[in-house]
Amino acid sequence: MDRIFSGIQPSGEIHIGNYVGAIRNWVQLTNRYDCIYCVVDYHAITIEYDVEMMQRRILDTATILAACGLTPDKCMVFVQSHVPEHTELAWIFNCVTPIGELERMTQFKEKSKQHRQNINMGLLDYPVLQAADILIYKAGYVPVGEDQTQHVELSREVARKFNARYGETFPEPQVLLSTAPRIAGTDGNAKMSKSMNNAIGLLEPPEVIWEKLRTAATCEHRQRRSDPGHPEHCNIFTMHTAFSKPDQIAFVDHNCRTAGFGCIECKEILHKNMVEELSPIQARVREMNKKPEYIIDVLKSGASRCKAIAEKVMDEVRTKIGIKSEWL
Ligand code: TYM
Repeated sequence: MDRIFSGIQPSGEIHIGNYVGAIRNWVQLTNRYDCIYCVVDYHAITIEYDVEMMQRRILDTATILAACGLTPDKCMVFVQSHVPEHTELAWIFNCVTPIGELERMTQFKEKSKQHRQNINMGLLDYPVLQAADILIYKAGYVPVGEDQTQHVELSREVARKFNARYGETFPEPQVLLSTAPRIAGTDGNAKMSKSMNNAIGLLEPPEVIWEKLRTAATCEHRQRRSDPGHPEHCNIFTMHTAFSKPDQIAFVDHNCRTAGFGCIECKEILHKNMVEELSPIQARVREMNKKPEYIIDVLKSGASRCKAIAEKVMDEVRTKIGIKSEWL
């Protein structure tokens, strides 16, 4: 079976963009691929973070993944720092990656603007660690949201550079996009993001979700109830395509274009569908939180299975780059 790798940062609450852009797709892919999913804690320390909260966030993130259906019978889930071969391989990749490639990464430029006080080396090097995450398992496919495609392209480049220098070793991983690869925030402009204060949390109760949807931006062409709308420019419609059934999507599309209903009615349908999908996940999270040992066991077994794969690949890499000491 072909292998898949993807990761998520344990930085704050997981939102519906993460869910429909990545996690829901990750679950579906477990039927067809050998899947490895990772809570990337070393990536999360490239920006300011709360040290005291880190362990809680790692466990909460893993719990959500399990509650969404990513359980050890279907895939491996583990914490990045529990398999130190990731950072070891990242160092070797550093030595084949041109700095210019990293400086032109959109996310680096954006984060450098957001975190002017702390433009650290890790922020620049972030995509190299991401390449190591993927390639230490020789994964061929990487299911991510649209914002991560540039990083996956860089990992292809890193694989090419390494192979050219040391001989054919790594595949060039390909992006797999979900059906909702880019969900905008409730402000309707920026990508939904933990840092932009425009996110709907996966674990938020129905009334909080409703308040966020009710006040969320819609297509700017619809100033009055009687104005026909343009669903293709409306963030709420994009969310419908992620949460509503095909007949409802067609119904919403028609009524928006013909001003058959107002934005509030449209949002009510979305809210109902969203809550219907999220409620069972939220219930499973509550159940899992009653038995914290479960998630710890999931992460321990995930790490030991992944470490076995990663150790072999590192051994091959050390040999290829000439630093394996047989006499050790
Ligand atoms: P992170 O933690 O920012 O996001 C996790 C996943 O959610 C997707 N996503 C979205 N999809 C659609 N609409 C949105 N508004 C939205 N916001 C986030 C992301 O594209 C991602 O797939 N660098 C990665 C983590 C990572 C990784 C890896 C991924 C580290 N190593 C190796 C793949 C392979 C990140 O920051 O994801």
